[in-house]
Amino acid sequence: MGLSLATAEKWVERWELQQQRYAVDREDRFTVIADVVEHITAGRTDRPLILDLGCGPGSLAARLARRLPDADMVAVDRDPLLLELARTHHADAARYVEAVIGEDGWTQALGLDRPLDAAVSTTALHYLSADALHRVYGHLAVLLRTGGVLVNGDHLPQDDAVLAEVAGCVGRRRAERQRALAHEDWGSWWAAVGEDPELADLLAERRSRQPSTGTVGGAARLALSDHVRLMRRAGFERVGVVWQYGDSHVVVAIR
Ligand SMILES: C[S@@+](CC[C@H](N)C(=O)[O-])C[C@H]1O[C@@H](n2cnc3c(N)ncnc32)[C@H](O)[C@@H]1O
Repeated sequence: MGLSLATAEKWVERWELQQQRYAVDREDRFTVIADVVEHITAGRTDRPLILDLGCGPGSLAARLARRLPDADMVAVDRDPLLLELARTHHADAARYVEAVIGEDGWTQALGLDRPLDAAVSTTALHYLSADALHRVYGHLAVLLRTGGVLVNGDHLPQDDAVLAEVAGCVGRRRAERQRALAHEDWGSWWAAVGEDPELADLLAERRSRQPSTGTVGGAARLALSDHVRLMRRAGFERVGVVWQYGDSHVVVAIR
């Protein structure tokens, strides 16, 4: 079922533009996450071990691999099509694992051989319900070494409805100024994928997967404060926002 390099490159490049519609500050956020991980792993003598949660076609893993060439990267996602794009286009960046984050056995599926130095994620954890996130943050607190870090870059609304609207507006205005809304959207990207014969088998495999606990019905949209509370409850002592633009945040939780 191997994909050609050219096909994978084309769809990953289209993915990057499509995702900019939703996270116009995507590159800044990737850079900030790499800054945090570099800081936390500085001075370590062994190879840092990093986990990318909801890696999609490997966008964050690839950037981290460039910034931290001495790190070992494991990247997990539930989507067989996106994973195949990652395995083909960003083959050397990470070891890619198919698993549903939060489902029984997902941490064993990762095949980790030592404690994690960092767990990172972009635009993915908002798919999880509060129950699933509570479990997952608990699992990550166990998988991370003491002093290790969880770094989540995602759109996380404020509690206050009016502030949430203002923050959303700030993000939309930036997207308009940068003409990010001219890029194709999520639905158009998937519709176009559906017309590529080279992706037909992967798409059929994707469709055969049943929705699973914690991700049913798409985005759960918990507030920033919910994430912070769930991280603290999972045992992370230091939790805070280190970067923000509109409702786009990078939240850091240290074990
Ligand atoms: C919007 S994409 C972001 C992908 C990538 N992190 C990026 O920034 O381009 C969200 C990803 O999260 C994955 N995802 C959502 N819920 C998941 C779960 N419970 N287990 C594994 N992957 C999940 C989806 O399959 C998808 O690849």
